[in-house]
Order: sequence, then C-alpha cells, then structure tokens
Amino acid sequence: MKTRIAICFVIVAATFSPLHAEVLDKSAVIFPKMTPMLNVGKLNYDTKCAKCHGKNIVGTDKGPTFLHRVYHPGHHGDGAFFTVVKRGSRAHHWPFGNMPAVDGVTDEQIKSIILYVRAMQQANGLF
Ligand code: HEC
Repeated sequence: MKTRIAICFVIVAATFSPLHAEVLDKSAVIFPKMTPMLNVGKLNYDTKCAKCHGKNIVGTDKGPTFLHRVYHPGHHGDGAFFTVVKRGSRAHHWPFGNMPAVDGVTDEQIKSIILYVRAMQQANGLF
C-alpha cells in the first residue's frame, strides 16, 4: 500500500512539475516549403514573437520553443494563441516567467502566425 502511494506521488510530481527546456539541436530544424502565406506569418512571428520564442521557433532564454510536444495542436489549440497574445499567460509549463500580452497584433496577424508555427511543427515531426 505504501509503495503504491509512493508511486502515485512520483507520477503526480512528474506530471505537474514545470518542464525544463529540452535540449534542442537548433541547427537541425527542418523548414517547410514556404508559400507567400507562410512568409507573411513568419514575418509577423519574427516581428512580434521571436524575441522570446526564438528565431525559427526554437525558443530563447525568455520563452519556450514551440517545437515541443506541449504545443502539439491537440494540447494547445489555435484558440490559445488568440487568448494568450491578447491577455498574456501566467507561467505554468516552464521556468521562464509570465508571458505579457503582446500589443498591436491583429487577428489576421495571429492567424498567419498560427499557420507558420503549425507548418514548422509539422515539418519537424511534431504531428
Ligand atoms: C516577452 C516574451 C514573450 C513574447 C514577446 C511572446 N511570448 Fe509567448 N510565451 C512567453 C513565455 C515565457 C511563455 C511560457 C509561459 C509558461 O507556460 O510557462 C509563453 C507561452 C506562449 C504560448 C502558450 C500559452 C499557454 O497557454 O501555455 C503561446 C500560444 C504563445 N506564447 C504565443 C505567443 C505568440 C503568438 C507571440 C507573438 C505574437 C508570443 N507568444 C510572444 C513569452 C513571450
């Protein structure tokens, strides 16, 4: 019985403890075939998101990479992008701190950013 409780505790702790940035080989990022739409998304992403989420979505010391399974579309759907950009997000997955709301990004721009992020994720085998 005691062992079972201990095992449960370990599982719970492993599930809820903040993730640590996994080592990602930044030079091994695979690029999708770029289209004019994706280029617009990349431009918007590079202007508004890259300083924390990194060039080519690989992350920085200020924010997580989107090439991580927690950002699989089944876990963080497209809706999350709209909410988070408008309202910010409290740190809950990582030790980077909170994400502040990002000003001056239109819904159209967010849509293009999602397209770009999903294309990068897909090219890199996240789904
Ligand atoms: C000032 C740094 C910073 C900028 C700029 C930034 N982010 Fe973030 N973002 C973060 C951090 C830090 C987190 C991780 C919070 C956590 O879960 O611990 C995050 C998390 C997220 C998440 C996941 C939220 C969740 O619910 O887990 C999404 C989606 C996101 N960012 C999208 C964007 C987009 C799109 C942009 C550009 C329009 C952007 N971010 C710009 C720092 C930033």
